[in-house]
Amino acid sequence: MCGIIGILGREPVAPAMIEALKRLEYRGYDSAGVATLENGHLTRRRAEGKLRKLEELLERKPLQGQIGIGHTRWATHGRPNETNAHPHATDRVAVVHNGIIENFNELRTELSGRGAKFTTETDTEVIAHLVTDLMNGGLGPIDAVRAALPRLKGAFALAFLFEGENDLLVGARRGSPLAIGHGDGEMMLGSDAIALAPLTSNISYLEDGDFAVLKRGGAQVYDANGNETKRPVLRSGAASFLVEKGNFRHFMAKEIHEQPEVVGHTLSAYIDFATERVQLPELPFDFAKLDRIAISACGTAYYAGLIGKYWFERFARLPVEVDIASELRYREAPFTPGNLAIFVSQSGETADTLATLRHAKEHGQHVLSIVNVATSTIARESELVMPTLAGPEIGVASTKAFTCQLAVLACLAIAAGRARGTLTEEDEGNLVRALIEVPRHMSEALALEPEIERLARDIAKNRDVLYLGRGTSYPLALEGALKLKEISYIHAEGYAGGELKHGPIALIDATIPVIVIAPYDRVFEKTVSNMQEVAAREGRIILITDPRGAREATIESVAILTLPDMPPSVTPLVYALPVQLLAYHTAVIMGTDVDQPRNLAKSVTVE
Ligand code: F6R
Repeated sequence: MCGIIGILGREPVAPAMIEALKRLEYRGYDSAGVATLENGHLTRRRAEGKLRKLEELLERKPLQGQIGIGHTRWATHGRPNETNAHPHATDRVAVVHNGIIENFNELRTELSGRGAKFTTETDTEVIAHLVTDLMNGGLGPIDAVRAALPRLKGAFALAFLFEGENDLLVGARRGSPLAIGHGDGEMMLGSDAIALAPLTSNISYLEDGDFAVLKRGGAQVYDANGNETKRPVLRSGAASFLVEKGNFRHFMAKEIHEQPEVVGHTLSAYIDFATERVQLPELPFDFAKLDRIAISACGTAYYAGLIGKYWFERFARLPVEVDIASELRYREAPFTPGNLAIFVSQSGETADTLATLRHAKEHGQHVLSIVNVATSTIARESELVMPTLAGPEIGVASTKAFTCQLAVLACLAIAAGRARGTLTEEDEGNLVRALIEVPRHMSEALALEPEIERLARDIAKNRDVLYLGRGTSYPLALEGALKLKEISYIHAEGYAGGELKHGPIALIDATIPVIVIAPYDRVFEKTVSNMQEVAAREGRIILITDPRGAREATIESVAILTLPDMPPSVTPLVYALPVQLLAYHTAVIMGTDVDQPRNLAKSVTVE
């Protein structure tokens, strides 16, 4: 995680670095810092906490340097305090880092033995000392970085600034993303195009293993083998990206409310509304020839994958395995070459998902990704990308990206069913019509917000909350619990309804709200039995269902949220909204930092 920026400018760069770091705060926000050259001398300003603390510090103690590097941190090694905040520096070099240096202990011992004085608990500080050590041995700044990189194990995106070098920034990437911005007589480095958008729209993306030397007149890039190479300069559309909440109090609220629009937009990219058929880009594989699909992702995107499994299996009779990316990668799963691996990611930079994608490629899988950031590393390394058109998601808790991921997975599963002959044209028409109605149902679901807010007042009084669901409502129960715990800090767990009596029922008493997600479908009766079990133990139930479910759930002490009728194939897309709103309003009542909850970051670029 962490966001990095570097600017070779023509006027003082601190204000532009702060602006860029604001756009990178989604990558971490526990401390921040910048370094510039003041009359040729490395000078740093660093502050614990949100970026505004650094901004305040710079107002009190401004910097005038026209070259600089900056960082917003999500702590991996060392507490989030000022000492551990980046840039890390010696008297010769300052560095900002996104990633983890796995062999930092070994390097630290070696460099301490040669007199280096370490002052922080971070892994990054070894990089500054290693480069300094090589410079003290006679190498110039560029060669010193070049010689240091092979000694680093782990993942990194790095930007270096050197004492006395007013026209030089060096960048390098292995594992973590890094882009070069090409301005008019100015050059930049940044974690992504969004950070660089106020400065330039001309962006080139470094490839893994690249090393870049930036001067105001341009950049030279070297590949992993040290050969000079060119990375294409692309026009980035990120400039139109506006970090605005509109009339909403939080980005999360805005993003929840955007769902009818962005899901409609995403569906229109994969559905021909006139013929009511799914229309996908040309596929580099044939669904009819696959014997299995592997879906991998993390967190909310993983839960989207779990829902996708139900659809692929039902519509296309195709076995699907869904894995948490960090597990698939290390569990030595056998792959049959020629099968399909699907990766789901909002950011497209999640380190575990990316590493698993590379692992699947090495094992001869076709690689398809469903990503929201079209310029991301996962998108660029995939054989086929099916973008979600959610627009920038700023709130750390994923909402609109999740439902857009579901929209794409549903279209894919329908296409698979058609290709495998398990869906007739009529079946496809019915499923597509149901999808087309989703944005309308979402708007109806949003109208329940005042009721949901009232229920949230009760939820906010509790320490534990249970979510139950069956079928596709089970992964949604997992997602509901994740949403609640990550933004309200109330402990929550999601269970498959049938699992209740295998352990979690021991938790039930009058103090535990149980949120049951149960549209009236073929497993509804079973879920009613589970609710009876909860009610018999005085558990307080909130039932999210439809008119028929509301009529038939004859249980006392139930609060009911009634959503419109809709075909079971699309319920997860619509039921996600009350689940998100319940978490959102609970967090607002609890007074937490909804958009930037503690300890989290939007883009998880470390393992
Ligand atoms: C939860 C949440 C996370 C992400 C996960 C994967 O609200 O946002 O669980 O879903 O970190 O991130 P992406 O989708 O960027 O790969």
